[in-house]
Amino acid sequence: MAVAKAPIVQKDLDAYHSAWRTPITGTYRGHKVISMPPTSSGGIALVQLLKMVEPFPLKRWGWHSDSTTQVMIEAERRVYADRAKWLGDPDFFKVPVNELLDSTYLQKRWSDFNWAKASDSQAIAGGAIPGYESNETTHFSVVDTEGNAVSITTTINNGYGSRVVVGGAGFLMNDEMEDFAVKPGVPNVFGLVGSEANSVQPGKRMLSSMTPTIVEKDGKLFMVVGTPGGSTIITSVFQTILNVIDHGMSMQEAVNALKFHHQWLPDRTTFERGAFSDKVLNALKAKGYAIEPQTGTLGRMDCILVLPDGRLEGGSDPRADNTSIGW
Ligand code: DON
Repeated sequence: MAVAKAPIVQKDLDAYHSAWRTPITGTYRGHKVISMPPTSSGGIALVQLLKMVEPFPLKRWGWHSDSTTQVMIEAERRVYADRAKWLGDPDFFKVPVNELLDSTYLQKRWSDFNWAKASDSQAIAGGAIPGYESNETTHFSVVDTEGNAVSITTTINNGYGSRVVVGGAGFLMNDEMEDFAVKPGVPNVFGLVGSEANSVQPGKRMLSSMTPTIVEKDGKLFMVVGTPGGSTIITSVFQTILNVIDHGMSMQEAVNALKFHHQWLPDRTTFERGAFSDKVLNALKAKGYAIEPQTGTLGRMDCILVLPDGRLEGGSDPRADNTSIGW
């Protein structure tokens, strides 16, 4: 650990304020999804992903079948391309939230999808939004005895942040600058690329992938979901929701289920070993998907599902030091 030479002073702390942002909401198969707005990309990306896969019969196709997986990968490719082009701190960049979540827009994003062949990420760009010129983590979920729910993800980015302790103050400096796009097209530590939308500017907040999410059904709390994991947060939350709603898994099964990830660039899908049968892997490879085992694991979820009789089921990830407790 190093100690910062220029410690944080009162003026720095006075200049910082937290900001209330209206949550991103959307629907998925009769459920209401409430999640984190910019400066996280999580809520927008999650609702885009859910709305993009909603027209497809994932339940009939089955969990991790080649068709289900293909549709999810192609949705992820396009949504992360949107993330790179359109998402950043709304105090600095006009994020076209409504346009990105518009059903007609999302339907159009499928126009270059081809069942016979993997799309090429180099040929997929962030979508064209009408009116715009083209120029191009710890998570916890809580439900109280009265049914109030919170879904919270907090990040200092990498482990121990920048590894600098503020002298006398006793806390670590984060390395959140790394969540900005340092230069167009230059990937950060999670391999994410960005553009002007997420360029470095004084006072600007960097683009996050945090996706703390609440799912409602018929106006009532259904599920609380979230995880750390950098760029893989969004796809882990996405898969966990599908695992429960489409594939009928319990909360713990949905958390435990092996996961995969695609983020537009690099143009490859990574998966936790054992997530797919050889048959499905071969079917996807035959269509041109670059698909390879993940180094390490995907997701460290902490989630809660409200059961039909009102009891709560906690799902905590066996991949890390997660725990569910209740009274
Ligand atoms: O906000 C973000 O997207 C990143 N700072 C999250 C980093 C993260 O989840 C690292 N932990 N696994």
